[in-house]
Amino acid sequence: MQIFKEIAPLKLHLQHKRKEGLLVGLVPTMGALHEGHLQLILASKAATDITVCSLYVNPTQFNNPTDLEKYPRTVEKDIAMLESAGCDVLFAPETSSMYERPGILRFDFGQLDKVLEGEFRPGHFSGVATVVSKLFHIVEPDDAFFGQKDYQQFQVVSKMVEELKFNLRLHSVPIVRESNGLAMSSRNQRLSEAEKKRAMILHESLLYAKGKLIAGKPWTEVQKDIFERFNKTQDLQLEYFEFANRDDLTDTTNINIKNGILLTACFVGSVRLIDNMLI
Ligand code: PAJ
Repeated sequence: MQIFKEIAPLKLHLQHKRKEGLLVGLVPTMGALHEGHLQLILASKAATDITVCSLYVNPTQFNNPTDLEKYPRTVEKDIAMLESAGCDVLFAPETSSMYERPGILRFDFGQLDKVLEGEFRPGHFSGVATVVSKLFHIVEPDDAFFGQKDYQQFQVVSKMVEELKFNLRLHSVPIVRESNGLAMSSRNQRLSEAEKKRAMILHESLLYAKGKLIAGKPWTEVQKDIFERFNKTQDLQLEYFEFANRDDLTDTTNINIKNGILLTACFVGSVRLIDNMLI
């Protein structure tokens, strides 16, 4: 695997590859890699010839400075994992090359970045869109791979690609979970064993709600049950547990169950976790 920290040599390298007619796939990450990230690498390897993984903890998408400071950084281990997964190129830039000076550009996605994650993490999706658009310009991928775990992020990136006419295909990869159902996340490293057990409530509640909705129970009643479940468990702070239309997360009035998605965010101790489930 070739490792680049600077933009210019990476661009040159990829230019040569493109001239050979090779397809380039991009997997953007913030590192602290786990099996979920590796599935994106495998999806890219299956669909393209050269897989580029970017590893950059993007400060502009963190609305909480403590979260940025505590975000796990395990670069050596990440490199070993990428090597064994057969990743071709790692792009691991410093902030000085990604943001030469603090940028003034902000993205506004209308309602899409005001609901769910957007409501609780103001400015987060503007930061995501900023860094992802920079990565798209630097790597110029034919295909880019994102996880369904961050469902709203995928919607935001899709809108950006569509409206700014980025010439690439987007792929969404299903959520990879631990054997106990907990969605894999870099932030899980910050959970104690007791908290990991407590965090199972996210997946269990999604399964419960999905079952009840399919059985015909009205959403308002299902949501009430869920709130009670969370209230009963210690050391949890639920931010939201919502049911939305999977094509348009902002339309909460006209949801067809078959086209629905459940989404949740919750603090387990001091760690914020998100999860979702398609119906
Ligand atoms: P990060 O949280 O590192 O996630 C990188 C990619 O891995 C995202 O597309 C995310 O949805 C996917 N992913 C994470 N956990 C997953 C799981 N359990 N199963 C499947 N896919 C999973 O998302 C980001 O970084 C950043 O916002 C980024 C897009 C890199 C921009 O900075």
